[in-house]
Amino acid sequence: MSLDTLVSSLTLSGMVSLDPATSKSNRDMIGRDDANDIDAILALTNTEVNEAITTVQNNADSIFTWDYEKGARPRLNKLYEKAKHSMWDGETDLDWTTSVDVDQMVNHMSIVGQVQNQPLFDLAEQPGSPLRNWGDKEWTELGRESLVWQMSQFLHGEQGALVATAKIVETVPWIDAKYYASTQVMDEARHVEVFAKYLDTKLEDHYPINVHLQHLLDDVIEDSRWDMTYLGMQIMIEGLALAAFGFLHSMTDEPLLKKLLRYVMSDEARHVAFGVLSLQEYYENLSLAEIQERQEFAFEAALRMRDRFLRQEVWHRMGVDDVKPIIDAQLNAPPESKEFQRLLFSKIVPNCRKLGLIDAGEGWLRTKFEEIGVIEFEHMESTDEEYADFALGSDETAA
Ligand SMILES: [Fe+2]
Ligand SMILES: [Fe+2]
Repeated sequence: MSLDTLVSSLTLSGMVSLDPATSKSNRDMIGRDDANDIDAILALTNTEVNEAITTVQNNADSIFTWDYEKGARPRLNKLYEKAKHSMWDGETDLDWTTSVDVDQMVNHMSIVGQVQNQPLFDLAEQPGSPLRNWGDKEWTELGRESLVWQMSQFLHGEQGALVATAKIVETVPWIDAKYYASTQVMDEARHVEVFAKYLDTKLEDHYPINVHLQHLLDDVIEDSRWDMTYLGMQIMIEGLALAAFGFLHSMTDEPLLKKLLRYVMSDEARHVAFGVLSLQEYYENLSLAEIQERQEFAFEAALRMRDRFLRQEVWHRMGVDDVKPIIDAQLNAPPESKEFQRLLFSKIVPNCRKLGLIDAGEGWLRTKFEEIGVIEFEHMESTDEEYADFALGSDETAA
């Protein structure tokens, strides 16, 4: 089955999302031992939903380089030259006069995503289930709220990428990487702009950042080592986002959102490639102990993205008091209903392979990826090889 075919049989509700933002007061309450403990996951909430800003400490040094030789790293230079010619304008290249019927859009996606929602339909049949008395009205509302929640987390994740990439401009020691990262900063500003505008003008609603996404972004920003920001953002978060945007693009028939996602994906593929190309060189000179630390960082980020972004806020907004059975049904869904979550790793795993992370240290990460059933993606094309395939064609760009 091709990825597109598989994707078209899955839904968007329930899975993805990067989840940023939160108060530091309850940080790090979830350790590795109880990473999938539902009570621990639900115990964390965003306590700063009414704050206008959140402050995160950046512990990395800002670095000047006096070696201005452009093109010393030819593949990064090529990426930079490509980026300069690939800028689009979120105001003028997208048709914001498009009228969006949100209920029709949600209805279309819920039909496509039948398989993904099956665990919730099954739960609704159980005596005492919090979904027991749900009718069409509630299921449609769930679809609408889930879309708003997911788009909101995309928006917050995009701001995370904006801040992380600005940090990379300051911290990476190579001029070719500083040049490229500066173009990514502009890309991410555009992404924040278009997701915010879509939420404001088409969905007319939004959710604050999910606390687990905020914590993940905080970790990426706080780390004192510049390569950890790359690994967390360009490889893990953007790798997952590239797959997630692709799913949503496949599932929606709404033309404005489809084009918005297509444009964003053309940039994101370059961003992930930037991470692979930069880290490939850097990792060659790290010790085994340092590589093992990166393996663990990558795997923990993967689990956090897969198992903690669970639409908790949606259930609360819909008046469901007892969320635990719902989260339990989602986390313990049969494999066919979790296929979507598995596919979120389709970009991450081949890129980890390209970086040498899978088999280093007696294959620690290989074992972990086998345990969660995603190792089969290892031989898919890595993003540094395929990013050009995502470039916008002349038939897709505005005149
Ligand atoms: Fe982005
Ligand atoms: Fe990006």
